[in-house]
Amino acid sequence: MIYLAVLGRQPEISIAELSALFGEVKKASSRIAIFSTSEVVNIDRLGGSLKIAQKIDEKPLEFLLKLPEGKLTLGVSDYSKGASKKTATIEALKFKRVLVREGRSVRVVENKDAELSTATSLHNGLSGKNERKVELIKVENEYYRVVGVQDIDAYTRRDQARPARDAKVGMLPPKLAQILINLCGPLPEGATILDPFCGTGVVLQEALLIGYRAYGTDLSDRMVEYSKKNLKWLLESGNESSEGGTERGSASISAGRPWRSPLGTRIAEGKRAGRTRPEEDSFQIQQGDATSFHWEQPIDAVACEGYLGVPMSQIPVEIKLKTQKQECGSIILGFLKNLSTQIKSNTPVTIAIPAWLRSDGSYSRLEILDEIEDMGYNVGSKTREGLLYYRDGQIVARDIIILRKK
Ligand SMILES: C[S@@+](CC[C@H](N)C(=O)[O-])C[C@H]1O[C@@H](n2cnc3c(N)ncnc32)[C@H](O)[C@@H]1O
Repeated sequence: MIYLAVLGRQPEISIAELSALFGEVKKASSRIAIFSTSEVVNIDRLGGSLKIAQKIDEKPLEFLLKLPEGKLTLGVSDYSKGASKKTATIEALKFKRVLVREGRSVRVVENKDAELSTATSLHNGLSGKNERKVELIKVENEYYRVVGVQDIDAYTRRDQARPARDAKVGMLPPKLAQILINLCGPLPEGATILDPFCGTGVVLQEALLIGYRAYGTDLSDRMVEYSKKNLKWLLESGNESSEGGTERGSASISAGRPWRSPLGTRIAEGKRAGRTRPEEDSFQIQQGDATSFHWEQPIDAVACEGYLGVPMSQIPVEIKLKTQKQECGSIILGFLKNLSTQIKSNTPVTIAIPAWLRSDGSYSRLEILDEIEDMGYNVGSKTREGLLYYRDGQIVARDIIILRKK
């Protein structure tokens, strides 16, 4: 099956996430990528994609005329060269005319641009869950049907409704936590994800929602309590979708898509696996210094946001940058050294480490990859260049590094 992904704000990171899960991904423009897989692609576990669409092999009108009876809602996003609000609208109205002639009742979702925004698609129910609410994506002469839209409301709820939050340790966006986990690649069913800097537990929460087992440790007793509180809340609160308030477990989308777990299926080395809800015993949280702690086994993958240093609201002066680099670098290297003797060969490790904004707009990174390699890790060097995660003007960016134990 051929899929199109509408990429998030940082396309290179979105592509790295898709490639880690599905293999080769072709960047078709700065906004979209194409890939092929026989796996079920579940948008709810992809932090970096805004929409997922499936290629339509027949002509678009043939496809539309076959939709089940009843009133249709139709949206069109145009990603062709030179596309505009006008080209997308013309296309949508052209389809509507033919459908109406054939006796169908059709509402067209109005374009404010060549593409419908994620919010517009989501709130008009165009996310593929309803067979009669369809968004077509046009790329030159090819058409794709949207089968998943990023549930921005669910991310906001997961982020903001958590009982224990702490601005000082930073707020890892749930989307980025998913990306860090997914960059570890497909993992076997029942895999344990370790986050040795678990803080308030965002990575652990997303690991649980995918269906993995979550193992967190943190130096701070307070953070250990926060993570426990947040995960307990997650297990007790369920996880509603934005469309109609049903739990994903009961919402059926297109044929063959088993929405069994809170975030749908997990990719489990070539087979589909589903859970009804994360279970109580699916997480474990302990206090420990990542540079010396002895973790319990098994550890199937490590995904974390390491220590990012002190929060900053201004570009640091040289001396402060130097001390911060030293402090963060030594904790991260100390952790990786400690970890290297405790994980099996080929275990994936993804870490977000800090990078600091310079006055020329570039980011100053920790130059520690050679040392990491010497500790017995393979470094995904090719991907390093593009994997900086930041909002415009953010002083401390997250630099994602992808490792595998040799
Ligand atoms: C940037 S925060 C991580 C936040 C986390 N991703 C979350 O979801 O809230 C870094 C965390 O590393 C912890 N930390 C700092 N030094 C540590 C060390 N040597 N060992 C373990 N944890 C440490 C801090 O207590 C803090 O919770």
